[in-house]
Amino acid sequence: MIFGKKENIRTLDDVLKWSWRTVHKGVSNFKHPFHRPSLTTMDGNKPQSRIVILRGFSEKNRTLICNCDARSPKVSQIQDNPHVNWLFYDPKKWMQLRLSGTASIHTDDEMAEFRWKKVRLPNRINYSSEIPPGSFTEKPTSGLPDLLGHKASKPLDHTEARKNFAVIVCRFDEMDWLLLKLTGNIRAKFHWEDHRMSAFWVIP
Ligand SMILES: Cc1cc2nc3c(=O)[nH]c(=O)nc-3n(C[C@H](O)[C@H](O)[C@H](O)COP(=O)(O)O)c2cc1C
Repeated sequence: MIFGKKENIRTLDDVLKWSWRTVHKGVSNFKHPFHRPSLTTMDGNKPQSRIVILRGFSEKNRTLICNCDARSPKVSQIQDNPHVNWLFYDPKKWMQLRLSGTASIHTDDEMAEFRWKKVRLPNRINYSSEIPPGSFTEKPTSGLPDLLGHKASKPLDHTEARKNFAVIVCRFDEMDWLLLKLTGNIRAKFHWEDHRMSAFWVIP
């Protein structure tokens, strides 16, 4: 079947419940397509999108979380302009989700400590490049210290890696949901102001 097995979506509440269920799957299941959303930030007046790994989601707080290197350009972009957009797509269900809101950077607080403890030891290498991400180099290189090289082999310095670790927490206040269907595509929009939500069906 072209559009895969469908959920039984009748109400805006069904849309919301299905969306939340799927975003939760994106956090817990590394094989799920929602595990790798696109996060867009603004670099001045230029949008910049990149894939990140979804590390946390709270429907109660309306937050989406990912980890990054504190020296990466996206961090200064968010500090300059906190407006961000997340894009998710499930190709099996033909379901697209766009969430937008404002992001904050956490490097030296409980949130950063909590998330750092969850970074598995082999993954801490991702925060260990000696030169900051985005720097120009003369040859292709990861910028990592020679941890595996037979001569200069040295253990990973977790203190240095921790200094480079940052968490991006985004609180979203808008959601755009789209489902492609053989019988006609359907789309809904959600908007939150404080704890009040408004929801509407819209033409795709
Ligand atoms: C599958 C995949 C997962 C990625 N996950 C992350 C991530 O969780 N955090 C991150 O900062 N970059 C991640 N990246 C790398 C980013 O897409 C991006 O190249 C990098 O963070 C530099 O972005 P920036 O220069 O806009 O800051 C991932 C890339 C891929 C292909």
